[in-house]
Amino acid sequence: MTKKIAVLAGDGIGPEIVAEAVKILEALRAEGLDISLEYGLVGGAAYDETGTPLPDATLSLAKSADAILLGAVGGYKWESLDISVRPEKGLLGLRSELNLFANLRPAILYPQLADASTLKPEVVSGLDLMIVRELTGGIYFGQPRGIRVLENGEKQGFNTLIYRESEIERIAKVAFEIAGKRQGRVCSVDKANVLESTELWRETVTTVAEDYPDIQLSHMYVDNAAMQLVRAPKQFDVMVTTNMFGDILSDCASMLTGSIGMLPSASLDENSKGMYEPIHGSAPDIAGENIANPLATILSVAMMLRYTLNEPVLADRVELAVSRVLDQGLRTADIHSEGMQKVSTSEMGDAVIAAL
Ligand code: IPM
Ligand code: MG
Repeated sequence: MTKKIAVLAGDGIGPEIVAEAVKILEALRAEGLDISLEYGLVGGAAYDETGTPLPDATLSLAKSADAILLGAVGGYKWESLDISVRPEKGLLGLRSELNLFANLRPAILYPQLADASTLKPEVVSGLDLMIVRELTGGIYFGQPRGIRVLENGEKQGFNTLIYRESEIERIAKVAFEIAGKRQGRVCSVDKANVLESTELWRETVTTVAEDYPDIQLSHMYVDNAAMQLVRAPKQFDVMVTTNMFGDILSDCASMLTGSIGMLPSASLDENSKGMYEPIHGSAPDIAGENIANPLATILSVAMMLRYTLNEPVLADRVELAVSRVLDQGLRTADIHSEGMQKVSTSEMGDAVIAAL
Protein backbone atom coordinates (compact mmCIF):
# COMPACT_ATOMS: atom_id res chain seq x y z
CA MET A 1 0.00 0.00 0.00
CA THR A 2 1.17 3.51 -0.75
CA LYS A 3 2.70 5.14 2.32
CA LYS A 4 1.68 8.73 2.86
CA ILE A 5 4.35 11.18 3.93
CA ALA A 6 3.36 14.57 5.28
CA VAL A 7 5.94 17.20 4.42
CA LEU A 8 6.02 20.18 6.78
CA ALA A 9 8.84 22.52 5.86
CA GLY A 10 8.22 25.18 8.52
CA ASP A 11 10.31 28.32 8.88
CA GLY A 12 13.75 29.79 8.30
CA ILE A 13 16.01 27.32 6.52
CA GLY A 14 13.24 24.67 6.83
CA PRO A 15 11.97 25.01 3.24
CA GLU A 16 15.51 24.89 1.78
CA ILE A 17 16.68 21.79 3.61
CA VAL A 18 13.37 19.98 3.21
CA ALA A 19 13.48 20.62 -0.55
CA GLU A 20 16.74 18.64 -0.69
CA ALA A 21 15.35 15.79 1.41
CA VAL A 22 12.27 15.70 -0.84
CA LYS A 23 14.57 15.32 -3.85
CA ILE A 24 15.88 12.13 -2.24
CA LEU A 25 12.36 10.82 -1.59
CA GLU A 26 11.33 11.67 -5.16
CA ALA A 27 14.39 9.89 -6.54
CA LEU A 28 13.53 6.77 -4.55
CA ARG A 29 9.91 7.02 -5.65
CA ALA A 30 11.02 7.14 -9.29
CA GLU A 31 12.81 3.85 -8.59
CA GLY A 32 9.64 2.27 -7.25
CA LEU A 33 9.36 3.20 -3.56
CA ASP A 34 5.60 3.33 -3.00
CA ILE A 35 5.08 6.71 -1.32
CA SER A 36 2.97 9.80 -1.80
CA LEU A 37 3.91 13.25 -0.51
CA GLU A 38 1.46 15.78 0.86
CA TYR A 39 2.42 19.23 2.01
CA GLY A 40 1.24 21.23 5.00
CA LEU A 41 1.96 24.38 6.99
CA VAL A 42 3.46 24.44 10.46
CA GLY A 43 5.13 26.95 12.77
CA GLY A 44 5.44 30.62 11.94
CA ALA A 45 4.54 30.01 8.30
CA ALA A 46 1.26 28.48 9.46
CA TYR A 47 0.68 31.28 11.95
CA ASP A 48 1.07 33.91 9.24
CA GLU A 49 -1.46 32.13 6.99
CA THR A 50 -3.98 30.91 9.52
CA GLY A 51 -3.34 32.53 12.91
CA THR A 52 -2.18 29.29 14.53
CA PRO A 53 1.15 27.41 14.37
CA LEU A 54 -0.67 24.07 14.08
CA PRO A 55 -3.78 24.42 11.86
CA ASP A 56 -6.39 21.64 12.00
CA ALA A 57 -5.62 20.77 8.39
CA THR A 58 -1.99 20.13 9.28
CA LEU A 59 -2.85 18.10 12.35
CA SER A 60 -5.23 15.86 10.42
CA LEU A 61 -2.71 15.49 7.58
CA ALA A 62 -0.08 14.47 10.14
CA LYS A 63 -2.48 12.07 11.84
CA SER A 64 -3.44 10.39 8.57
CA ALA A 65 0.15 10.13 7.34
CA ASP A 66 2.45 7.16 7.91
CA ALA A 67 5.42 9.43 8.45
CA ILE A 68 6.12 13.13 8.71
CA LEU A 69 9.13 14.99 7.38
CA LEU A 70 9.63 18.25 9.23
CA GLY A 71 12.13 21.05 8.58
CA ALA A 72 12.33 23.51 11.46
CA VAL A 73 10.14 26.08 13.15
CA GLY A 74 10.61 29.50 14.70
CA GLY A 75 12.33 32.79 14.00
CA TYR A 76 12.86 36.33 15.29
CA LYS A 77 9.69 37.46 13.56
CA TRP A 78 7.47 35.47 15.93
CA GLU A 79 9.47 35.78 19.16
CA SER A 80 7.21 38.43 20.67
CA LEU A 81 4.00 36.46 20.10
CA ASP A 82 2.13 34.99 23.01
CA ILE A 83 3.73 31.64 23.92
CA SER A 84 0.48 29.83 23.06
CA VAL A 85 0.78 30.67 19.36
CA ARG A 86 4.56 30.71 18.94
CA PRO A 87 5.93 28.51 16.14
CA GLU A 88 7.45 26.08 18.67
CA LYS A 89 3.91 25.28 19.85
CA GLY A 90 3.23 23.80 16.42
CA LEU A 91 6.07 21.35 16.82
CA LEU A 92 5.25 20.54 20.44
CA GLY A 93 1.58 20.10 19.49
CA LEU A 94 2.48 17.57 16.80
CA ARG A 95 4.69 15.61 19.19
CA SER A 96 2.03 15.53 21.84
CA GLU A 97 -1.09 15.01 19.65
CA LEU A 98 0.59 12.15 17.80
CA ASN A 99 2.02 10.67 20.99
CA LEU A 100 5.56 10.68 19.59
CA PHE A 101 7.13 9.94 22.94
CA ALA A 102 10.41 8.38 21.82
CA ASN A 103 12.92 10.73 20.32
CA LEU A 104 16.01 9.06 18.87
CA ARG A 105 18.96 11.35 18.30
CA PRO A 106 22.01 9.53 17.02
CA ALA A 107 25.35 11.33 17.19
CA ILE A 108 27.72 9.65 14.78
CA LEU A 109 31.03 11.09 13.76
CA TYR A 110 31.77 10.68 10.09
CA PRO A 111 35.52 10.01 9.96
CA GLN A 112 35.75 12.56 7.14
CA LEU A 113 34.62 15.26 9.59
CA ALA A 114 36.91 14.43 12.50
CA ASP A 115 38.68 17.77 12.11
CA ALA A 116 35.41 19.74 11.87
CA SER A 117 34.72 19.01 15.54
CA THR A 118 35.93 21.53 18.06
CA LEU A 119 37.17 18.58 20.11
CA LYS A 120 40.43 16.73 19.47
CA PRO A 121 40.08 14.02 16.80
CA GLU A 122 41.17 11.28 19.25
CA VAL A 123 38.34 12.23 21.62
CA VAL A 124 35.62 11.99 18.98
CA SER A 125 36.84 9.61 16.29
CA GLY A 126 34.65 6.53 16.10
CA LEU A 127 31.90 8.21 18.13
CA ASP A 128 28.56 6.41 17.77
CA LEU A 129 26.11 7.47 20.44
CA MET A 130 22.33 7.26 20.58
CA ILE A 131 20.42 9.69 22.75
CA VAL A 132 16.91 8.50 23.57
CA ARG A 133 14.96 11.54 24.72
CA GLU A 134 11.50 11.37 26.28
CA LEU A 135 9.49 13.75 24.13
CA THR A 136 5.89 14.14 25.29
CA GLY A 137 6.22 14.63 29.04
CA GLY A 138 8.31 16.27 31.70
CA ILE A 139 8.65 19.99 32.18
CA TYR A 140 7.75 20.70 28.54
CA PHE A 141 4.16 19.65 29.12
CA GLY A 142 3.70 19.52 32.90
CA GLN A 143 0.85 21.44 34.51
CA PRO A 144 0.51 23.84 36.22
CA ARG A 145 2.57 26.29 34.25
CA GLY A 146 2.48 29.98 33.54
CA ILE A 147 3.39 33.42 34.76
CA ARG A 148 1.35 34.75 37.68
CA VAL A 149 1.30 37.96 39.65
CA LEU A 150 1.98 37.61 43.36
CA GLU A 151 0.22 39.57 46.07
CA ASN A 152 3.03 42.10 46.22
CA GLY A 153 2.65 42.70 42.48
CA GLU A 154 5.81 40.82 41.57
CA LYS A 155 5.58 38.35 38.69
CA GLN A 156 6.46 34.69 39.13
CA GLY A 157 7.08 32.15 36.37
CA PHE A 158 6.52 28.46 37.03
CA ASN A 159 6.65 25.10 35.29
CA THR A 160 6.19 21.58 36.52
CA LEU A 161 8.62 18.71 36.02
CA ILE A 162 6.32 15.73 36.21
CA TYR A 163 6.64 12.08 35.17
CA ARG A 164 4.50 9.08 35.84
CA GLU A 165 5.83 5.54 35.99
CA SER A 166 4.22 4.43 32.73
CA GLU A 167 5.86 7.30 30.83
CA ILE A 168 9.26 6.37 32.21
CA GLU A 169 8.74 2.66 31.61
CA ARG A 170 7.90 3.01 27.93
CA ILE A 171 10.87 5.25 27.11
CA ALA A 172 13.20 3.00 29.15
CA LYS A 173 12.02 0.00 27.12
CA VAL A 174 12.79 1.82 23.88
CA ALA A 175 16.30 2.54 25.14
CA PHE A 176 16.91 -1.06 26.25
CA GLU A 177 15.61 -2.47 22.96
CA ILE A 178 17.88 -0.16 20.97
CA ALA A 179 20.87 -0.96 23.16
CA GLY A 180 20.22 -4.67 22.51
CA LYS A 181 20.96 -4.03 18.82
CA ARG A 182 24.07 -1.98 19.65
CA GLN A 183 26.74 -2.40 22.33
CA GLY A 184 24.25 -3.32 25.02
CA ARG A 185 24.87 -0.40 27.37
CA VAL A 186 22.35 2.18 28.63
CA CYS A 187 23.22 5.23 30.69
CA SER A 188 20.15 6.82 32.27
CA VAL A 189 20.60 10.52 32.94
CA ASP A 190 18.73 12.27 35.75
CA LYS A 191 19.07 14.71 38.63
CA ALA A 192 17.94 12.27 41.27
CA ASN A 193 20.04 13.97 43.95
CA VAL A 194 17.80 17.03 43.79
CA LEU A 195 14.55 16.35 41.90
CA GLU A 196 11.99 13.82 43.14
CA SER A 197 10.52 13.33 39.66
CA THR A 198 13.86 12.07 38.46
CA GLU A 199 14.37 10.03 41.61
CA LEU A 200 11.29 8.15 40.39
CA TRP A 201 12.87 8.12 36.93
CA ARG A 202 15.95 6.34 38.29
CA GLU A 203 13.92 3.84 40.30
CA THR A 204 11.65 3.02 37.38
CA VAL A 205 14.44 2.62 34.83
CA THR A 206 16.18 0.28 37.30
CA THR A 207 13.03 -1.84 37.58
CA VAL A 208 12.54 -2.02 33.80
CA ALA A 209 16.18 -3.12 33.48
CA GLU A 210 15.33 -6.34 35.31
CA ASP A 211 13.60 -7.51 32.10
CA TYR A 212 16.81 -6.88 30.14
CA PRO A 213 19.49 -8.93 31.90
CA ASP A 214 21.88 -8.62 28.94
CA ILE A 215 21.91 -4.85 29.05
CA GLN A 216 24.34 -3.05 31.29
CA LEU A 217 22.60 -0.11 32.99
CA SER A 218 24.35 2.84 34.59
CA HIS A 219 23.02 6.11 36.00
CA MET A 220 24.51 9.56 35.79
CA TYR A 221 23.51 12.99 37.02
CA VAL A 222 22.89 15.39 34.17
CA ASP A 223 25.61 17.86 35.12
CA ASN A 224 28.18 15.08 35.13
CA ALA A 225 26.75 13.71 31.87
CA ALA A 226 27.24 17.08 30.17
CA MET A 227 30.83 17.11 31.39
CA GLN A 228 31.48 13.49 30.36
CA LEU A 229 30.05 14.17 26.89
CA VAL A 230 32.82 16.62 26.15
CA ARG A 231 35.47 14.83 28.20
CA ALA A 232 35.11 11.24 26.98
CA PRO A 233 32.02 10.84 24.79
CA LYS A 234 32.93 7.38 23.54
CA GLN A 235 32.14 5.88 26.97
CA PHE A 236 28.45 6.10 26.00
CA ASP A 237 26.41 3.70 23.88
CA VAL A 238 22.76 4.66 24.55
CA MET A 239 21.75 7.54 26.83
CA VAL A 240 18.14 7.75 27.97
CA THR A 241 16.83 10.89 29.58
CA THR A 242 13.99 13.34 30.18
CA ASN A 243 12.58 15.77 27.69
CA MET A 244 14.52 18.83 28.81
CA PHE A 245 17.80 17.09 29.64
CA GLY A 246 17.63 15.35 26.26
CA ASP A 247 17.10 18.67 24.51
CA ILE A 248 20.22 20.09 26.08
CA LEU A 249 22.47 17.03 25.90
CA SER A 250 21.63 16.36 22.25
CA ASP A 251 22.73 19.84 21.20
CA CYS A 252 25.91 19.27 23.16
CA ALA A 253 26.45 15.85 21.52
CA SER A 254 25.85 17.30 18.08
CA MET A 255 28.95 19.45 18.26
CA LEU A 256 31.05 16.35 18.91
CA THR A 257 30.22 15.37 15.35
CA GLY A 258 31.45 18.61 13.85
CA SER A 259 28.20 20.40 13.22
CA ILE A 260 24.66 20.46 14.44
CA GLY A 261 23.88 20.46 10.72
CA MET A 262 24.70 16.73 10.57
CA LEU A 263 22.28 15.30 13.14
CA PRO A 264 18.96 13.70 12.20
CA SER A 265 16.23 12.56 14.55
CA ALA A 266 13.21 10.31 14.71
CA SER A 267 10.24 10.80 17.02
CA LEU A 268 8.25 7.60 17.29
CA ASP A 269 4.96 6.48 18.77
CA GLU A 270 4.15 2.98 20.11
CA ASN A 271 3.63 1.70 16.55
CA SER A 272 6.76 3.18 14.97
CA LYS A 273 4.85 5.86 13.18
CA GLY A 274 7.28 8.72 13.16
CA MET A 275 8.14 12.33 12.60
CA TYR A 276 11.60 12.91 11.17
CA GLU A 277 13.48 16.15 11.49
CA PRO A 278 16.99 17.52 11.85
CA ILE A 279 17.81 18.36 15.47
CA HIS A 280 18.93 21.86 14.54
CA GLY A 281 16.62 24.84 14.45
CA SER A 282 15.40 27.19 11.76
CA ALA A 283 18.58 29.32 11.68
CA PRO A 284 16.80 32.52 10.62
CA ASP A 285 20.16 34.30 10.34
CA ILE A 286 21.07 32.28 7.24
CA ALA A 287 17.58 31.56 5.85
CA GLY A 288 17.11 32.04 2.12
CA GLU A 289 20.84 32.09 1.37
CA ASN A 290 21.13 28.52 0.09
CA ILE A 291 24.06 27.86 2.44
CA ALA A 292 22.46 25.67 5.13
CA ASN A 293 23.56 22.06 5.51
CA PRO A 294 20.79 19.74 4.25
CA LEU A 295 22.53 16.56 5.44
CA ALA A 296 20.74 16.30 8.80
CA THR A 297 17.40 16.41 6.98
CA ILE A 298 18.58 13.94 4.34
CA LEU A 299 19.81 11.64 7.12
CA SER A 300 16.37 12.05 8.72
CA VAL A 301 14.93 10.56 5.52
CA ALA A 302 17.28 7.61 6.05
CA MET A 303 15.87 7.19 9.56
CA MET A 304 12.33 7.35 8.10
CA LEU A 305 13.23 4.57 5.66
CA ARG A 306 14.63 2.49 8.50
CA TYR A 307 12.10 3.01 11.31
CA THR A 308 8.75 3.64 9.62
CA LEU A 309 8.95 2.52 5.98
CA ASN A 310 10.83 -0.70 6.77
CA GLU A 311 13.33 -0.16 3.98
CA PRO A 312 16.69 -0.79 5.68
CA VAL A 313 18.51 -1.32 2.40
CA LEU A 314 17.39 2.09 1.10
CA ALA A 315 18.26 3.63 4.47
CA ASP A 316 21.79 2.25 4.16
CA ARG A 317 22.02 3.59 0.63
CA VAL A 318 21.08 7.13 1.67
CA GLU A 319 23.59 7.04 4.53
CA LEU A 320 26.27 5.68 2.23
CA ALA A 321 25.52 8.40 -0.32
CA VAL A 322 26.05 11.04 2.38
CA SER A 323 29.32 9.43 3.32
CA ARG A 324 30.39 9.42 -0.35
CA VAL A 325 29.80 13.14 -0.84
CA LEU A 326 31.89 13.77 2.25
CA ASP A 327 34.59 11.54 0.74
CA GLN A 328 34.42 13.67 -2.38
CA GLY A 329 35.38 16.65 -0.23
CA LEU A 330 32.07 18.49 -0.60
CA ARG A 331 31.21 20.66 2.40
CA THR A 332 28.57 23.22 3.24
CA ALA A 333 29.83 26.27 5.11
CA ASP A 334 29.20 24.86 8.60
CA ILE A 335 31.52 21.88 8.04
CA HIS A 336 33.92 23.50 5.62
CA SER A 337 37.64 23.29 6.24
CA GLU A 338 40.71 24.12 4.20
CA GLY A 339 41.20 22.09 1.04
CA MET A 340 37.55 21.10 0.84
CA GLN A 341 35.09 22.25 -1.80
CA LYS A 342 32.45 24.60 -0.45
CA VAL A 343 28.98 23.85 -1.81
CA SER A 344 25.51 25.34 -1.42
CA THR A 345 22.46 23.65 0.08
CA SER A 346 21.11 22.61 -3.31
CA GLU A 347 24.50 21.52 -4.65
CA MET A 348 24.89 19.27 -1.63
CA GLY A 349 21.44 17.77 -2.25
CA ASP A 350 22.28 17.17 -5.93
CA ALA A 351 25.56 15.55 -4.97
CA VAL A 352 23.78 13.14 -2.62
CA ILE A 353 21.33 12.23 -5.41
CA ALA A 354 24.25 11.59 -7.76
CA ALA A 355 25.96 9.41 -5.14
CA LEU A 356 22.72 7.52 -4.51
C1 IPM B 1 14.49 20.46 19.58
C2 IPM B 1 14.13 21.91 19.65
C3 IPM B 1 12.71 22.03 20.20
C4 IPM B 1 12.71 21.47 21.59
C5 IPM B 1 12.12 23.45 20.18
C6 IPM B 1 12.19 24.07 18.79
C7 IPM B 1 10.72 23.49 20.70
O1 IPM B 1 15.04 22.58 20.41
O2 IPM B 1 13.80 19.71 18.86
O3 IPM B 1 15.46 20.06 20.21
O4 IPM B 1 13.01 22.17 22.56
O5 IPM B 1 12.37 20.29 21.74
MG1 MG C 1 16.74 21.43 21.02
